[in-house]
Amino acid sequence: KKLSIIGVPMDLGQNRRGVDMGPSAIRYAGVVERLEQLRLNIEDLGDIEISRPNPNNDQKVDNLRNLQEIAEGSLRLAEKVDEVVQQGSFPLVLGGDHSIAMGTFAGISKHYENLGVIWYDAHGDLNTGDSSPSGNIHGMPLAVSLGIGHEKLTNILGYTPKIKPENIVIVGARSLDEGEKELIKDKGIKVYTMHEVDKMGMPTVISETMDYLKNRTDGVHLSLDLDGLDPHEAPGVGTPVIGGLSYRESHLAMEMLSQSQMITSAEFVEVNPILDEKNKTAGMAVGLMGSLLGESLK
Ligand code: ARG
Ligand code: MN
Ligand code: MN
Ligand code: MN
Repeated sequence: KKLSIIGVPMDLGQNRRGVDMGPSAIRYAGVVERLEQLRLNIEDLGDIEISRPNPNNDQKVDNLRNLQEIAEGSLRLAEKVDEVVQQGSFPLVLGGDHSIAMGTFAGISKHYENLGVIWYDAHGDLNTGDSSPSGNIHGMPLAVSLGIGHEKLTNILGYTPKIKPENIVIVGARSLDEGEKELIKDKGIKVYTMHEVDKMGMPTVISETMDYLKNRTDGVHLSLDLDGLDPHEAPGVGTPVIGGLSYRESHLAMEMLSQSQMITSAEFVEVNPILDEKNKTAGMAVGLMGSLLGESLK
């Protein structure tokens, strides 16, 4: 099986510099070597070019920080991902902040009738310029994929929406803004907050998620934000929220998804080596990728 790694050194979707070095940190943590053990045919396509706006002028259009540069970078990513899927290879996208999901979705979703999404994250990333408390586009990609947001973002690769609300499952949420909660209710998006994870346990959450997505989707994308994990274990993220998923729960989730063979693409985002301790968050990301792609002791 072929797998294509695409790095996206994007930090324009939020305020903390350093997350643009996420792809380097993940490569340094040994992603290629780790996945090569799994008898996968790996190609590393390098990094997508992201432009560098002058950091001294804070450019916001309609409460959307760095809109133009993010739209351009997303298009370049979308075209690359599109090519990879076209060739029948599994796209593994390395962030970069979570705004990159807009480009990833654009490239993948045109190949599917009903793309499913597992959004593994402390946040919903369902804001718009109007509802966002920060103006940071990394808090918006899931809304954008539903076709809600600025046209420069919703229309990447010339089609919208990318995802239907009933094909989304959010896991690990514990910081949702008011507008996001309303959208979740309006659209009927399935969410397992930390409350449900604690009450039901991760095995039930993932089993239910797989059952829910199995019959309605023809492919499932995993978008894993490292801030879904607890910041004690994964400190190298820009928007940490305490009370998160453990490393063990997350491995179990990845192993169950691997066994189901339903994941058709993945991205790992928000690794910020400047905020990390000895690159452990990048190392954790690589471990989770190993489990997702078939590592197991048996
Ligand atoms: N809800 C907050 C906002 O919109 C935080 C978003 C964090 N998103 C992320 N991808 N880490 O600003
Ligand atoms: Mn996120
Ligand atoms: Mn997050
Ligand atoms: Mn918030």
